[in-house]
Amino acid sequence: MKKVKVLFVCLGNICRSPLGAAILRKKIKDHGIESWVEVDSCGTSNYHIGGDADPRTRANALKNGVSMEHCARQLTEQDLDDFDYIFAMDRSNYQNILRLVNGRKVEHKIRMMREFDPMGHGEVPDPYHGGEKDFQEVFDILDRSINKFIEHLKATNQ
Ligand code: 4NP
Repeated sequence: MKKVKVLFVCLGNICRSPLGAAILRKKIKDHGIESWVEVDSCGTSNYHIGGDADPRTRANALKNGVSMEHCARQLTEQDLDDFDYIFAMDRSNYQNILRLVNGRKVEHKIRMMREFDPMGHGEVPDPYHGGEKDFQEVFDILDRSINKFIEHLKATNQ
């Protein structure tokens, strides 16, 4: 099996993208495919570099059976070379990722996370100024999108 490297990207790297990474890490273990899938996350901003995931994200993840270990970092140009799938949570993240392309032939790797959401496309909403309902909505969107993404990985990485 060819190694596949997956990067989740949001703004702060403390809510949506570290949760996506934690959910995918758990699911690749459940599917027994952790030997060929690598997972990481980062933010387009420098706001929270070195920080843990938001306590509301961690609490919501645990409630849903997912534990998180995280240290926030910022997206680099090197990431665009290193990763095979780069998932933007929203359009603003997507535009910020494109700003680092600088002539690389990598645009095919940069995708919207909800491309894989069977219940609808668009954005994973930023829950930072929201409440528990918003954190649960983010969890549900990521959970079902990542299920579909794993189906895609298993079907395409022979
Ligand atoms: P995230 O959420 O992009 O999902 O990690 C946010 C976290 C922090 C901020 C904005 C969004 N902030 O403005 O500090």
